[in-house]
Amino acid sequence: MSTPVSQQWFDRALSVSPGGVNSPVRAFRAVGGTPRFMVSAEGAWLTDADGERYVDLVGSWGPMLLGHAHPEVVAAVQEAVSKGTSFGTPGTPEVELAEEIVSRTPVELVRLVSSGTEATMSAIRLARGFTGRDMVVKFAGCYHGHVDALLAEAGSGVVTLGLPETPGVPAHVTADTIVLPYNDRAAVEAAFAELGPRIACVITEAAAGNMGVVPPEPGFNQHLSETCRSHGALFISDEVMTGFRVTRSGHWGLDGAHEGWRPDLMTFGKVMGGGFPAAAFGGRADVMGQLAPSGPVYQAGTLSGNPVATTAGLTTLRLADDDVYARVDAVSGSVQSLVAEALTQAGVPHVLQTAGNMFSVFWGVTDPVTDFAGARAQETWRFAAFFHAMLEAGVHLPPSAFECWFVSAAHDDEALSRMAAALPEAARAAAAATDPRTS
Ligand SMILES: Cc1ncc(COP(=O)(O)O)c(C=O)c1O
Repeated sequence: MSTPVSQQWFDRALSVSPGGVNSPVRAFRAVGGTPRFMVSAEGAWLTDADGERYVDLVGSWGPMLLGHAHPEVVAAVQEAVSKGTSFGTPGTPEVELAEEIVSRTPVELVRLVSSGTEATMSAIRLARGFTGRDMVVKFAGCYHGHVDALLAEAGSGVVTLGLPETPGVPAHVTADTIVLPYNDRAAVEAAFAELGPRIACVITEAAAGNMGVVPPEPGFNQHLSETCRSHGALFISDEVMTGFRVTRSGHWGLDGAHEGWRPDLMTFGKVMGGGFPAAAFGGRADVMGQLAPSGPVYQAGTLSGNPVATTAGLTTLRLADDDVYARVDAVSGSVQSLVAEALTQAGVPHVLQTAGNMFSVFWGVTDPVTDFAGARAQETWRFAAFFHAMLEAGVHLPPSAFECWFVSAAHDDEALSRMAAALPEAARAAAAATDPRTS
């Protein structure tokens, strides 16, 4: 599939933006080639500047649960825009979105922000302010946005680009960050035994999706919550990716809803913005009550609770009923079956992992992946061959083996047929691929 117009846009982009992209995960560094420049999207489909159509398995990295340009979301946004795009005063849709979030999740109070990064950064500041402690525990391979203190051993674009650490983050900032292996309860207990009185919080992805999909082992999140409670620290469940995607609330709804525990703070983003920049953090009323103006911990935002973004998010959440989740789960299951069958037929060793309807493939491994070390042991070059064969056949995957694949309720039979047709050849390409370091 030739893409001369995308190439022209990429050349223009390279001359004005670092790497030609506005977020590193959009680059094709890990797979090679030229990113496709999209001009429109509808339902399960993306259309690039050359007029080529692709089945979309990126889903804007999670937000597009309903598919692109859902007519009711578009209509609500158009009406909101026509009433003014930002007031700088409290407005009505932001209250309704906050009510929707509080009604669907365990949080008692919520503050709206504009990005997942802002949500996790603010949640950590609040945890530190509330506890009067400085140290933060995170897990290797989890990504919580580009917050200075949380970039240590991060997943997503940081691992895709193979960056061991990020210049620009002062050593004293990460000195208070403790990085532990994911799913390792003994490591958590050892860290608390040594440093418990100094630990403000533990933050984890509710189910890891940024080193590929690595679900928490049963009871892991609950163990984190209980360990935090017994040491006077707060447990922050980062549901920016999982929230409102895998259930009406998020992974907490799958993992903890019936166990009688809840996170102290949660962070949300992606789906709750309906494709616009909106995110949130919330939790226990006594903790959230420490935020300005109720309390002394400062946090603010010119566009927080923006009326257009909150209208898009509110409309999306209201449309995301049980039927939508059933549809997304069914689509996800169909795609997983197609992928597993094609890879098995072609003889590609792989492990396909899920967290609700989120899933990803680990290439060239045979045992379940439970942590970052396992995720990094995969044969990423097999994915690069697979990725390009799928792209040529009109299926756009995330351009990294360390990312989750996202489907939507709008992925219909036509989209599934396109994938089914593309998969055998792509699986053969993965089987035939060789490690560029040894060939
Ligand atoms: C779990 C998680 N937390 C936080 C973030 C950061 O969100 P944003 O990119 O909106 O800043 C992401 C982004 O992918 C994420 O997956």
